[in-house]
Amino acid sequence: MRVLTGLQPSGALHIGNYFGSIRQVKMLQDSSDLFIFIANYHALTSSKNDNSLKANTLDAAINFLSLGIDPDKSTFWLQSDVKEVLELYWILSSFTPMGLLERAHSYKDKIARGIAANHALFSYPVLMAADILLYDSQIVPVGKDQIQHVEITRDIAIKFNNVFGDILTIPEFKVDEDVATVPGLDGAKMSKSYGNTIDIFCTQKELKKTTGKIVTDSTPLQEAKDYENCNVFALAKLFLDENGIEELKQRYKKGGVGYGHFKMYLKELIWDYFEPAREKREYFLNHTDEVRDILHDGAKKARFIASKKIEIIKEKVGILC
Ligand code: ADP
Ligand code: TRP
Repeated sequence: MRVLTGLQPSGALHIGNYFGSIRQVKMLQDSSDLFIFIANYHALTSSKNDNSLKANTLDAAINFLSLGIDPDKSTFWLQSDVKEVLELYWILSSFTPMGLLERAHSYKDKIARGIAANHALFSYPVLMAADILLYDSQIVPVGKDQIQHVEITRDIAIKFNNVFGDILTIPEFKVDEDVATVPGLDGAKMSKSYGNTIDIFCTQKELKKTTGKIVTDSTPLQEAKDYENCNVFALAKLFLDENGIEELKQRYKKGGVGYGHFKMYLKELIWDYFEPAREKREYFLNHTDEVRDILHDGAKKARFIASKKIEIIKEKVGILC
């Protein structure tokens, strides 16, 4: 089963990213033929045109490797290292009705937020279709906001196949319904755009400061506390097994302990949980050549498949090779 997903290199990762996405991708490495890449061409559509994309891309590779993406279990590469994807992007553009792209929510939302429309932002789903179809991907795990893009991919592939026969594999999207939304410091969805995140790779001092900012109610120290509506509890739960959760509930119910104490406890849980990832990250930060080698090896594996597929496609559409 070929499973493929792309991850945007979008700066510091927070624990919402980990529990909402990275952890799932990591688990898929053991059960499928996982293809995973860093979508740096997609990130270009929202880049500030300085050198930050380069830095963010390397940083993303280091972060994903540190958090458990294993190049021995999956094929992990940089989107821009397999140039065939841009050839397919152009070919697919000829099979993409304007109306299909005009209906894309993500594009419409960005325009509504005042982001200047450029062609790449508009044709973003066609490049995503190329990412998916180039590798005969069967399953595409995505967040809810990306479902429509996989549907567009299906539409494009079906249109292509109607003309040329069963050449492209029609993919299915996979959305993990079990994944709960991780709350941020204020209880709203944790998100970079809301400035309410707890970053995975911050210093211990920063972690103490951010966890200290989590919004709680004003129940006095001596009284029992409502764990069900507590942001600290909701976050701590992510790091605990059933027994740990039960114990924590009892401590909330018992009273006599203030929120400051629970926040410290949460800080320790987060710090310990990401200790191995921090150590790996430290290593990769000091061995960036190794990271580039991993990405190159991944690109080589990906290109082996991509180059065969693009030849078949070019031959079909009449591009002289
Ligand atoms: P942000 O909202 O901080 O910009 P992204 O949109 O870059 O985060 O999210 C990348 C991935 O992480 C997506 O798959 C998304 O579903 C997941 N994710 C982000 N925030 C959360 C959250 N608070 N809870 C669960 N999953 C999340
Ligand atoms: N657009 C996706 C996102 O923003 C990233 C992405 C690019 C992707 N190409 C893909 C995801 C192909 C799945 C399949 O999250």
